Amino acid sequence: EQSLTLLGLESSCDDTAAAVVRQSGQGPAEVLSSIVFGQTELHSAFGGVVPEIAARAHAEKLDHCVRDALAAADLRLQDMDAIAVTAGPGLIGGVISGVMCAKGLAAATGLPLIGVNHLAGHALTPRLTDAVPYPYLMLLVSGGHCQYLIVRGPDDFKRLGGTIDDAPGEAFDKTARLLGLPQPGGPSVQKEAESGDPRRFRFPRPLLDRPDCNLSFSGLKTALMRMRDQVMAEKGGLTRQDRADLCAGFQAAVADVLAEKTRRAIRRYLEEVPTTRTVAVAGGVAANTAVRAVLETVCTEVDAQFVAPPLALCTDNAAMIAYAGLERFRSGEQDGMELSARPRWPL
Ligand code: KG4
Ligand code: ZN
Repeated sequence: EQSLTLLGLESSCDDTAAAVVRQSGQGPAEVLSSIVFGQTELHSAFGGVVPEIAARAHAEKLDHCVRDALAAADLRLQDMDAIAVTAGPGLIGGVISGVMCAKGLAAATGLPLIGVNHLAGHALTPRLTDAVPYPYLMLLVSGGHCQYLIVRGPDDFKRLGGTIDDAPGEAFDKTARLLGLPQPGGPSVQKEAESGDPRRFRFPRPLLDRPDCNLSFSGLKTALMRMRDQVMAEKGGLTRQDRADLCAGFQAAVADVLAEKTRRAIRRYLEEVPTTRTVAVAGGVAANTAVRAVLETVCTEVDAQFVAPPLALCTDNAAMIAYAGLERFRSGEQDGMELSARPRWPL
């Protein structure tokens, strides 16, 4: 099969990204460059991503990102075989910025344009990094998403379940905010938890009484707020140790729930696909050491292979978009200038 080189663009949330990915025939795919401009500082004063600010920053940064990604790969736009862009789901202003930029580049060069679902980008990352064959089980855990998928092909996903309220990353971020820790919350809560006692505070384990693969994280935040307020009422403030114990208890609850629901998802997956046993993870929360540890344990229990892509490809990036576009392009698909941004786009 022919060698393909794609430029990918990503701008659906608070990272502006461009990347170049190449795959020669059936060989492994290669990330030739991957540039990410984060917007954390722009939003830090507001306690969350402000869509209007995000859209403006994407519009300003996208062409710089593209220039840097091409330069880092030592290639020109004319060396690309196609241009892939996140067409949703996400914040509409950002997605439109990306789609417009990609259309401009496609119109100027005559290159094919390929719209990619952001979630498909995350879900296919284990194929980019580890050439994992279809079908495999994917746990997508990020700031905006949480779901179990059986990945059967570049456009063929079966959803087994997911969160019914907050995503786990969102719960980490809110926990950090409630305890006065810096954003993004995941890394700061993890750091505090290292010196905490996970048994001091009794956090709930939501939805474990139900046999399905659905999860819920908003109750953990409410429980944390109650416990925090109780300590503050008793002692007039929070000590460093109180904070660490709260973080440790919260993180242990998230890890426990993910472990048990992953066991159930693996059972459902093996009912459908008895022969292969690969469990892959993607999304920012996959960076959490406690979460990673329990997932590894669960996989060992059932003799499944556990695949966790390197962190830079787990969090939002454009290499995953270029790669997902490459798979779609290889299977003969592409979009025209009528490609539109889709704020909602379930897999
Ligand atoms: O995948 P991602 O970059 O963005 C989304 O598409 O949502 O994930 C970002 C999320 C944030 O909520 C962040 O707090 C969380 O991933 N995160 C972590 C850790 N590192 C990042 N959560 C828990 N533990 C971590 N070490
Ligand atoms: Zn994402």
